[in-house]
Formats: sequence, structure tokens, C-alpha cells
Amino acid sequence: MILINNEEQVFHLQTLNSSYILKVSDAGHLLNLYYGPRLQHRETLSHLNHTAQVKLGSTTAYSASDERYCLETQKLEVGTAGKGDYREPSLHITYCDDGSSTSDFIFDRFELSPDKPELSGLPHSHSPSDNDLSLTIVLREKLKPVELHLHYTCFEKTDAICRSMTIINRGSEPVVLNKACSASLDLPRADFEAIHLSGKWIAEGQLQRHGLNKGVFSIGSSRGVSSSSHNPFMALVSQDSKDDYGSCYGFALVYSGNYKIATEVSPYDQTRIMLGVSDLDFAWPLSGGMHFTCPEVLMTFSHKGLNPMSRNFHAHIRQHIIAPTWQDQPRPVQANNWEATYFNFDESKLISLARKARSLGVELFVLDDGWFSNRNDESSGLGNYTEDRKKLPQGLAGISRKIRQLGLQFGLWVEPEMVSVNSDLYAEHPDWAVTIPGREASPGRQQLVLDMSNPAVVDYLYQQLSDVFHRAKVAYVKWDHNRNLSDVYSNHLTAEQQAGFYHRYVLGLYRLLFRLKAAFPNILFENCSSGGNRFDLGMAFFMPQTWISDNTDAHERVKIQQGFSLLYPPCCMSAHVSGHPSHQVLRHTPIESRFNVSCFGLSGYQLDLTTLTTYEEKVIRQQVSFYKEHRTLLQQGVFYRLSLSAANQQAWMIMKEDQSEAIVGFFQGLQVSNPTMKTIKLPMLKPDAVYRVKSREQYQNIRQYGHLVNKELPVTIKDRGVLHGIIANRYLLPVSSESYIMPGDQLQHMGIPVKSQFTGTEITEHVSHIGDFGSRIYHIRETEA
Ligand code: DGJ
Repeated sequence: MILINNEEQVFHLQTLNSSYILKVSDAGHLLNLYYGPRLQHRETLSHLNHTAQVKLGSTTAYSASDERYCLETQKLEVGTAGKGDYREPSLHITYCDDGSSTSDFIFDRFELSPDKPELSGLPHSHSPSDNDLSLTIVLREKLKPVELHLHYTCFEKTDAICRSMTIINRGSEPVVLNKACSASLDLPRADFEAIHLSGKWIAEGQLQRHGLNKGVFSIGSSRGVSSSSHNPFMALVSQDSKDDYGSCYGFALVYSGNYKIATEVSPYDQTRIMLGVSDLDFAWPLSGGMHFTCPEVLMTFSHKGLNPMSRNFHAHIRQHIIAPTWQDQPRPVQANNWEATYFNFDESKLISLARKARSLGVELFVLDDGWFSNRNDESSGLGNYTEDRKKLPQGLAGISRKIRQLGLQFGLWVEPEMVSVNSDLYAEHPDWAVTIPGREASPGRQQLVLDMSNPAVVDYLYQQLSDVFHRAKVAYVKWDHNRNLSDVYSNHLTAEQQAGFYHRYVLGLYRLLFRLKAAFPNILFENCSSGGNRFDLGMAFFMPQTWISDNTDAHERVKIQQGFSLLYPPCCMSAHVSGHPSHQVLRHTPIESRFNVSCFGLSGYQLDLTTLTTYEEKVIRQQVSFYKEHRTLLQQGVFYRLSLSAANQQAWMIMKEDQSEAIVGFFQGLQVSNPTMKTIKLPMLKPDAVYRVKSREQYQNIRQYGHLVNKELPVTIKDRGVLHGIIANRYLLPVSSESYIMPGDQLQHMGIPVKSQFTGTEITEHVSHIGDFGSRIYHIRETEA
């Protein structure tokens, strides 16, 4: 809902639980009066403009006519420099006619519409419902013929507001955009804590939380991709906030390239947050009649903690970012050959993997890197689109047909934005690689990046990829991007355009993806950039799922998925069970934990299935069938982080919207000795309902008991002897099962009464031995009293 008081020039944007109120000041600037818990709409809201009405020393008055009005103390929707606002600007323009760079944008008009304005060429939130109105407020520069169109769309049900901005040069003289944030917001507090997700390869999504002090704090990327260094997301939260308590403002950028999210706590105790394309290496010439559209920002507010903030984001991403085709479509369980074979495979190996995968219940077989000519390691081949006939004698068509004949869907890995120097494409078009003439190019993974700002490159890739997708009859594509940009220069752009290269690269990529999405609406795309190096809402618009990390170690994955869960729903995150030890950290974790973690994402397998032990095979078969049975709930339910007191433990829940069913996951690091009794509280359940809680059947490998196994057996077995091995391989030792019937209020306030863990004294049905890096999954269903 958007309610407007024309006379007072007040705009009230209302979602289910939040209000966002704007007003035009007497001088014409667009002010933010309020963002927080939903307020009842009243005819007059102007008095919410709570700013200093007194002359302040050491400030610059906006105009001689009112010495009390200075921009530095106002809560502005656009921050510009030069008229007395000394905070970081969100927009900075140089006017080429006179070289000046002071801007002063004042209200001109507004337009309210049921249609969301097009953000041409950019990914965006789609499918607003009938109540989801859009407001465009047009500001005009007081002296120069430049307009700003500030776009706001209110998504009532998901409690989200989308913002963006278009800058239009209405004159004939060019201007240069030095900085153009999509959104800027001034909040009247100085005591926020910032939460954001930093990381690096195989350690993505690590949650950071710290207080903001006076001054500027920023995160961003200069790598050409949004990057795992900092995900394009930030929350500003009250210091007392936690998952189920406190005020939380969440912000995310729908963009995949260099970006910046900056906060500034001002001397007047306001906090400004600005999100947009990075201003580093950015200078965008805008000649007369041209416009520039900034990427979309998604904002949500919760006054009941981080879980509702995440819940809003998740609902919005599922309903308005991910393409409608994939919103409710069950995602297939996949087997990917990467960690099983790396580059070392041939058709018969792939078929054996696929055959075993099929027998275990897997639905999609993905052929990863190495299928094209001259690709036996990282050093060559990118840019070749013909099959390696030694590995695949009947080409992609042949392997795809055989995989499909086994009853599996066929999926393929590609890395289109890259080229190896040793490749057909580089031989033909060396000028298409991003390098600076005369400078030695710095390699990354021994490859170069293609110039996506060049339409000829985009056309070429479209042709090659279309051909491959048709030839291989793919149901799924994993789209990889394995190096950051360096030596940035385009042979295609003019000298004046070079400083916009990073953004032009992203626009070129989006052009390609829009075309492919239209041509292949039924291909399921999975985004990947050495894992989560380009995990963002821009890519999620085109690719509903992402390979969020190359790290598949169960223990590390809990941290990674926990961090990313602040913004992304489980149905965006691919999570595979890999072999042991972990290829990333050499840690051994139970295969049941590797699966339990993967359940809170899109489960799949990435290990050599042809060498499984009988124990592993039996366990995997059960896992796949459990996942498929509960897939709708796991992929489409509402996700919550559950609070536990111990630092080495973590619990998550995915619940059906109507609260009748849920899956709870409990994960621990190292087991502590003589652990105290634990409960897992589920405050989201219905207090009056009665629930059956049942642990998933889990099995252990009896090898881990060593000679202790003799305590339970009538015969004596030699530790690590032949017999021990045979029994371990054949016999599935169940983890003591748990089953309770409990009313919702007891589960809310007391919680699931988790069984004792092993303490070295006895192994009975009262002891649930899950051990180091162990985990448990509980299925909860409402039942008759
Ligand atoms: C990096 C990805 O993250 C891996 O999963 C795999 O696809 C390799 N690239 C292949 O080169």
C-alpha cells in the first residue's frame, strides 16, 4: 500500500509489518521521516520530521532565507555534496559544461502506478501482486537539466521495499556520473551494529557483527564479481537483537559486479547507509538525452529479530527474484562428477557413476569441467566448444543419450566468460580477452576473462552455448566463473568508456543471460564462481540455485550455510555430500552429517559412487529417499535458525507455512565429555497442537567403536581385523532412535528433549551416540491428541 497526502507532500509506504514515510521539505528536498514498525496511516504525518529547529554553529545553511535548515542534519533520500551535507554522498555528478560538481535535487513530481518500472537490462524483483504499488518520485537539479527518478515498490506480503534510481540527462551537454548509488537512507540512530558476510574461497559466508562508530565503514568488491570477500548484503541491527528479538534493517543489492555498501554515522547521530555500483574505477559519461539505471536494492525491516528479517528475504527471493518456473518446481537430487574424477574421466567411468547414482535414487547427472577438447587440467581449453573425442567418443550427444537412457536427466558444466590462451577462441580472437595492450596480463587459474562489454563476444557465446545446450539436450547447466578480473581494458570501448568497464561487463553478462533465459526457459541453471564468489540476487534472478562453496566438509558447511541463511533461502543453495576425508580440509565427518547438512540446501552427491562401501551405499539410498519424501517441505518451507546455548552446536528448522510439519537439524562440532542434557526449543510451533517428533533413522559405522565393539557382542572381534572390517561393511549400527509425542507449547518452551550422548560408561537405547561432527534430524508432524 502507498498512501499519499498531496497537500503535505507526504508518501507513506506500508507493508504488512513496516512503514516507510517520505516527505518533501519546504526547500524541496526528499526526506525520510520514518522507517520502522508499521504505523497506522493518518492524514497528517509531517510532524514525524524530527530535525533540529535551531541554528547550529559550524554548519552551512542551505539558503540565506532559513539559517536553521542545513542539509547535514536532514534525513535525505539522496545525498549530494556541495550544499552543506558533508557526509559521504550517494550521488556525485560532474557537469561537463562548466566542470562543477555540486548538485541540488529538488522535488518535481511523482507518479503512482500498479506497474513496477522496468529496470532495463538489469535483474529485478518481478511479479508484484495487485496491492504492490510502485511510486516514482522525480527530482530535478535546480540549475542543470538533469532528473533523478527514484523508484520505490512496496511488496506488501513479503514486507519488502525495492528501490532503484534512474538518472536522466535532459540537456544537450554531457555529464559524468562519478558515483550513483541505487539507494541511500538516513536512520536517526548512532548505535547500530552491522551484520555482514565476509569470506574467501572455501570459507564463504562467514558472519561478521560489530558496532558502528562515528565515521565511514564500507564493504564491497573490486574483483569484477560481487565476490566472496563480502556478500552484497548488510543488516543494521539494534545491539540487543538476536534471531528472535530486536530491530533489524536488512539490505541487499540485486547486482553481480563491483559494488559498495557504505555506512556513515554522522556527528548528529544519524546513520546513513548507501548501496550501489562501486565508485572505484567508475566514471560514466551521460550525453544529452541518455539515462543510467542503477541496480535494484531490496530492503526489509523486522522488529522481532533476525529470523523474521531472513524470513522476509527468503519469501521475497522465492516469490519475486527466482523465475516463476522454478519457484515451486522440485529441484532434482544430483550427482556431479567433479570430486569423483576431476579431469580424469572417460565415457565408461561417467556411465558407471551415473548407473550407480541412478540405483541410489539420484535424478540428475552433471558432467563437470573437462568435457571439451584440450582440457585435462586448468591450463588450457577454455574457449573450445567441441567435445574431447578421446573422453567422449560419441560426443555430448552420445553421453547425454546414454545418461538419459538410464533414466537420469543430463546436466553440463560451462565457463563461458573465460578463455585459455591455449584455445581455439584465443587463437582466433586474442582481442576479446581482457588485457591491456603492452602490459603482461596477470593470470588467475591460468585463464583470462572475456570482454563481456563487447556485443560480438556476447553474440558469439550465445551461439556457442545454444548449440551445446541443444546438442547435449541438457536439463541443467552449471555456469562457472573461476577468476577475478585484472588488467581491465576493453579493445571495444572508447577511452572515455573504459572507466565504466566493470559495469559494462556485468551488463553484457546480463544481456547474455536474458537471451538464454528466454531461449531455454526450462533449463535449470546453477550459478557458481569457484563456489560462492558471485552469489548474489542478480545471479539468483537468472539462476535459481548456486553452488555456494567448494567446501563440502560437513562442519565448515554448517557455518557457511548458517551465514548465507541470513539472506538466502535453502532452495538457493546447492549442498552436496562428498567423500571423506574432505578434499578441502582433510577432515573425516560422518556421512550422515554430510547428508543432514545438505538437507538444508539442495541435496546432491559429489564423490566416487562406484567405490562406496556397502555401508555407505545403504546409507545413501536411505538418505536420498528421505530427501525426496520431504523435499517439498525442505525446499519450500520457512527456514529458522534455532537458538542453542552451546557454542559448538547449531540447530535449524524448516517449517510448513501452516505450522503442521517441520524438519529440525541439530549439528555439533567436537563432542564434549560428560555433556549436560540438551533441549531444542521450537517457539514457532502452534501451542495448542500436538506433535509427533521422530528422529530420522541414522546409522553409524561400527569401526569407530574400535575394540569397544566387544562390549556389546557375545564374541570377541579384533579391532581393525578382517572380521571387524566385514561386519562394519555389512552391518548398519543404528543411532538410538528418538520419538516423542508432545504438545506444541511444551516444544515451544521446553523443547525436544534430546537424548544423552555417549559418556564412556554404557551404550544403551538411552544413549544417542552421534559423536564428533555428529548431527541429528527430527521430523515433526502435527498429530491427533
Ligand atoms: C570450480 C567449481 O567451484 C567446482 O565445483 C568445479 O566446477 C570446478 N570449478 C571445475 O573447474
